Amino acid sequence: MRILIGKDYEEISKKAALMVAAQVMLKPNSVLGLATGSTPLGLYRELIAMYQRGELDFSAVRTINLDEYYPLAPDDPQSYHYFMNDHLFKQINVKPENIHLPKGNADAVKAECDAYETMISQVGGIDLQVLGIGVNGHIGFNEPHPFLHAQTHLVDLTAETIQVNSRFFASAEEVPRQAVTMGMGTILKARRILLIASGRSKAEAIKKTVNGLVTTECPSSFLQTHPAVTLVLDQEAAALL
Ligand code: PGA
Repeated sequence: MRILIGKDYEEISKKAALMVAAQVMLKPNSVLGLATGSTPLGLYRELIAMYQRGELDFSAVRTINLDEYYPLAPDDPQSYHYFMNDHLFKQINVKPENIHLPKGNADAVKAECDAYETMISQVGGIDLQVLGIGVNGHIGFNEPHPFLHAQTHLVDLTAETIQVNSRFFASAEEVPRQAVTMGMGTILKARRILLIASGRSKAEAIKKTVNGLVTTECPSSFLQTHPAVTLVLDQEAAALL
C-alpha cells in the first residue's frame, strides 16, 4: 500500500487528479471506476479544469460507478446517476454510451447486478478504481458485516451510513435503506485502486485500513490484499497512522 499525505483537502484533490490524469493520458480508453460522496468532488473539479484547459480528453474513456441507491430512478435528484452527471459527466467530453452506473430502480435487481458484472468484464475490467471510505470502513456500499458479497449485489445500509448520508437529504427518513453496490471482489479486481480520505472523522477507518486485521467488519481492510493501492490522505485523515 502506498500512502501519500497532503496538507489539506485541496492538495490531496490535486494529487488524486494528477493520478487519474496520468491514467487517461497513458491509456486514453481507460476504464475508470468512479465514486460519489463529498470526498471525490475536489478531484472531479480538478479533472474538469484540466479538460477545460485542453489538457485531458475523455472521449475514449469508459466510466463505471461503484453504487446507486435502491430504488431511485436515474433522474431522481438524489440518485448517484444525477450526482455524477451534475458534478462531472456533463462538464467533460465523456460519451454517454461509455458511462455506466448500476440501475437503482431495475425491476429484476439480481439480473441487473449480474448484468453489471458482465458489463465490467466485457469492457476489459477496471483500470483505476477511485474510492472514498465510510467512517465505518465501508467502500462502495460494502458495509461492515459478518460476511461480504464478492459480486455486485443489493445491500442494506447500516444505521450509521444512513445517518452520515442524511446530510444530503431533508431528513434521515428520506435516505434510501438499500443500495446496489459493486462487491468486494469486483473492487479488488481493479488493476489499480486510489482511495482518497479527508478529515478527522476518517482517521479511525484509515488506521484500520492500513494497520488493522483483514476483517469483513472493516471492509476497507481488504485493500491490504491488493497489489496496487494508493491512499491519498490529508493530515487529519492520516492522524492515527
Ligand atoms: P464521503 O463518503 O466522501 O461523503 O465522506 C465516502 C463514503 O461513504 O464512501
